Amino acid sequence: MTGVSVTGEIDAPLPGPADFAAWRGQARRFLAAGLPPALVSWRVAGEAPGLFASAAPPETVAPLSASVPASVPRSFLEAAETAIRHRDPQRFALLYRLLWRLAHDEPGLMQVATDPDVLRLHAMAKSVRRDAHKMHAFVRFRCVEMADAPDEDSGADPVGAHYVAWFEPEHHILEAEAGFFIRRFAGLRWSILTPEASAHWDGATLRMGPGGTRREAPAEDAHEALWRAYYRSVFNPARLKPAAMRAEMPVKYWRNLPEAREIRGLIADAPRRTAEMLARGVSAPILRRQRPPPAAVQPTALPDVAETMPADLFSRVEDPAAALAALRAGLMGRNDLPPWTAASTQPVFGEGPLGAPLMFVGEQPGDEEDLAGRPFVGPAGRLFDRAAAEAGIDRSATYVTNAVKHFKFKPTGRRRLHQSPDAGDITYYRPFLKREIELVTPGLVVSLGATALRALTGKPLPITRVRGEMIEAPEGFRIFPTVHPSYLLRLPDPASKEREYARFVADLVAAREAADRLGS
Ligand code: URA
Repeated sequence: MTGVSVTGEIDAPLPGPADFAAWRGQARRFLAAGLPPALVSWRVAGEAPGLFASAAPPETVAPLSASVPASVPRSFLEAAETAIRHRDPQRFALLYRLLWRLAHDEPGLMQVATDPDVLRLHAMAKSVRRDAHKMHAFVRFRCVEMADAPDEDSGADPVGAHYVAWFEPEHHILEAEAGFFIRRFAGLRWSILTPEASAHWDGATLRMGPGGTRREAPAEDAHEALWRAYYRSVFNPARLKPAAMRAEMPVKYWRNLPEAREIRGLIADAPRRTAEMLARGVSAPILRRQRPPPAAVQPTALPDVAETMPADLFSRVEDPAAALAALRAGLMGRNDLPPWTAASTQPVFGEGPLGAPLMFVGEQPGDEEDLAGRPFVGPAGRLFDRAAAEAGIDRSATYVTNAVKHFKFKPTGRRRLHQSPDAGDITYYRPFLKREIELVTPGLVVSLGATALRALTGKPLPITRVRGEMIEAPEGFRIFPTVHPSYLLRLPDPASKEREYARFVADLVAAREAADRLGS
């Protein structure tokens, strides 16, 4: 490592407040030049340089030579790339100090969980991730500009409408999170304004701009009343828990949320509405949905997270369709989602009619499902459709969903490689699946593969042992286990493919007949 002779601090301006590539390039040069952390004064360009800082000597700004220091652990790079978005002005210095220590006799530093620098790094990365989750959940776009009149038949906004949202993130996350909104609203023209920067998407290109003010974003638009009416309709006064509600939706976000204007009134009216509901008693459809007590399968040994859920997502409601929509919205608003979900495009919930005679439960959305926001539309879905049609099942009359609602994958080059959910993932989503079943009330639930079966029964059961046998779930609904269609796709030779496909179709026929019997 070459040593640079320096007196005083070196001024290290970075082009942006969260420019990881620039920090990384600069830090590697400083490291290669042997510049200790105490001699670097980091700042964002535009901010005043440190009092004692001077311009960097040429050795530290020249292109990297062959003497670049050895590589650093991936865990450091991953956490650093997130933590650099933190608001703490000391973030660049902390990252460089960690890099320096990793390169100077402390290669195992990232494993020292009690080290104050490592602790701070993880705390900052966690806070940034939490801020990102809040942004995903609480950004609300309002339509500011219509190119043409709305479509009269569908009421849909015309192409060319411009949507603007105001959001106040805690950290410098706007540019990093813009991708989430591009994926979700790819076809719309939108802007997100924050106090420090703005992001503008025109349907093809993302442009970053200067910060804005709350007044530049409209406080209301034509959809406001509809959204608020929807919120009122899914609010369950009998399960009101203001503290849990505030934890899910901190008050500081209320100013931007149209539904927040309903909250005070709904809370004030809750006792009256609850008394009214009690006086009305249990309605007939809910009685019909109750099933006999558990039989074959013992209650789950796995813990579940239902207790931590906002109460009104897990209570009985009068409108199951609205409750399903609220369940989906509730999942999107959670701030304790498994960290890998941040890379996915969106949660994929089930689709199909309420009260469907058959509900199919798969493992998790794949690449195509993640992009489309619909279950079983990729290669496994196409095979499933073909087999279902051969078995005399009309998919549109069934409800199709997954045990895990986000796509878990490993990025490899341009492809996103499916990764199986682990027991923790299955447990996390279980309350959502159970509630989905409770609201859909299918005649028979067909589990496709091991993950679905585990999610439904609460324990790992070998498919080979229980395939085609009717099992009763702890909650009383009936499960018909079979294999997952992607198992058929993975079989290596045509003969076994054909044989297993025929077995799968036969299972679907048996499931259809069982559902017919249960329904008659
Ligand atoms: N595999 C699944 O389990 N579900 C899907 O939705 C797609 C593929």
